Amino acid sequence: MENVVCKTSELQPGEMMEASLGRTPIVVCRTLDGDFYAFSNRCIHQGGPMSKGVLCGTSVPTDRPGEYCYGRKKEILRCPWHGREFDVKNDGRMLTDPRRKLPSFTVDIVGGNVIVSK
Ligand code: FES
Repeated sequence: MENVVCKTSELQPGEMMEASLGRTPIVVCRTLDGDFYAFSNRCIHQGGPMSKGVLCGTSVPTDRPGEYCYGRKKEILRCPWHGREFDVKNDGRMLTDPRRKLPSFTVDIVGGNVIVSK
């Protein structure tokens, strides 16, 4: 199953949008480098609507041991209900427990269309 969810021009880097793949609600994210990603729009914790959360960054280590800075802007998807965070660029894995992840979908760009498939 596949679905054209939008034109590439309709989702700017750093933005996300709600869409669907058949009857499955999905969230489509575009990171600052222009790449597109798609995940289930239902959080794996208690089903929160991921597209109503925020696309944000997280703390990353610096060169100095024990020091961190804010980085990875717009690469982390945070659930609006209880704040669990998922790594958009690492297949939707949860930051605090990478064994768990949001279901993810394949995204292809064809002729300016963003196509999501299972
Ligand atoms: S439903 Fe997403 S963190 Fe609880």
